[in-house]
Amino acid sequence: MIPFTFQAPANILFEAGASRKIAARVQDYDARHVLLVTDKGVRGAGLTRDAEAALAAAGIALTVFEDVVADPPSHVIEAAAELCRSQGVDLVLSIGGGSALDTAKLVAYLAKTPDRLDDIYGVGLAKGERLPLLLVPTTAGTGSEVTPIAIVTTPTTEKKGVVSPRLIPDWAILDPELTLGLPAHVTAATGIDAMVHAIEAYTSKIKKNPMSDQLALKALELLSRNIRTVCTNGQDLEARSQMLLGSMLAGMAFANAPVAAVHALAYPIGAIFHVPHGLSNALVMPHVLAFNRPVAEALYAELADVVKPGHQACSAAEAAGVFIAEIVALCRDCQVPDTLAAVGIAEKDLAKLAEDAMKQTRLLVNNPRELDYQQTFEIYRSALLGRGAAA
Ligand SMILES: NC(=O)c1ccc[n+]([C@@H]2O[C@H](COP(=O)([O-])OP(=O)(O)OC[C@H]3O[C@@H](n4cnc5c(N)ncnc54)[C@H](O)[C@@H]3O)[C@@H](O)[C@H]2O)c1
Ligand SMILES: [Fe+2]
Repeated sequence: MIPFTFQAPANILFEAGASRKIAARVQDYDARHVLLVTDKGVRGAGLTRDAEAALAAAGIALTVFEDVVADPPSHVIEAAAELCRSQGVDLVLSIGGGSALDTAKLVAYLAKTPDRLDDIYGVGLAKGERLPLLLVPTTAGTGSEVTPIAIVTTPTTEKKGVVSPRLIPDWAILDPELTLGLPAHVTAATGIDAMVHAIEAYTSKIKKNPMSDQLALKALELLSRNIRTVCTNGQDLEARSQMLLGSMLAGMAFANAPVAAVHALAYPIGAIFHVPHGLSNALVMPHVLAFNRPVAEALYAELADVVKPGHQACSAAEAAGVFIAEIVALCRDCQVPDTLAAVGIAEKDLAKLAEDAMKQTRLLVNNPRELDYQQTFEIYRSALLGRGAAA
């Protein structure tokens, strides 16, 4: 067996209504003053209300930073870290999607160390201490609550990652009730993001390992069986729970067997055109899978058994086709937009996208099939034509 390492949070609480029990977790750290990192959409939807009330009832002081925006820019993170330092906060709590959780991870770190954000982009450069950190996801989702990763948009519209075990939280607290009101289009996009995490972890070239494989398979099973239900009936708590569990397991998988070309090609779309992360992934995914197919056929055939159990394919080649076709069908059924044109991207933009995607070397090294600039450009061109060009 191949040697491997595996990292995950020491503590996970998964329970409907868990956000009402936040105060006890905070008291474990003797914290007297908490910074809540969130965004206005999440707070406006009332998703932080129970936690805020629980902290007030326990006599714990609270400072709220609700200025997180999607694909958090570096200046927002720096402003939140400054607030954290100036208020004498001793624990960071985040309730929100990946954007809020990623911001909180870096705030907890930057508030405690002299490091500057610019100095810690990359793998393993954040080596200092951080404040205690509790993360509560409201999307299912990025899996950020269990990963050592925070993604930042730089002033030059590049998406850069800080990757360090220091960013794994002390507690991941998962409350499926918080995801019940997630609008259908966000449910679809964030759910596809989670599926991409599972798929890319399962085919990750260098660090794929027996633990990440099991997590990715289970994640993909849960996500593919429930995504259609949550897109049509958002109030189904059991299906929402399965999605939240699936996204967390996918997060654990890709935290240890990193994502690859789908994410590398999605990031420039998010950074330049402000397309939500999950949707950026969904738009390029079928085309990257089609590109990878000649090399990843055997693995995609295994994934066909997960997303389409009982399929009748007679060979690995056929089964890989079944897998890609099912993923395409699932995007269609969840009404995910079909082409790059639908988000305002035109042929003239593809060269810049391909150039920027080639800079995502941290991710591209994990792709099962090597890709160069011209191939990347062609994948974007195929994504401009729509999913039919990949299936
Ligand atoms: N750290 C990681 O491991 C990791 C992995 C993948 C992606 N990411 C990053 O995460 C970010 C994307 O996160 P995301 O997809 O969760 O979206 P998000 O956090 O940007 O939120 C998207 C929108 O959904 C709203 N929202 C969130 N939860 C809601 C709820 N329950 N009900 C109603 N509205 C809700 C928010 O207010 C926001 O407007 C990107 O920056 C991406 O790069 C990080
Ligand atoms: Fe992602």
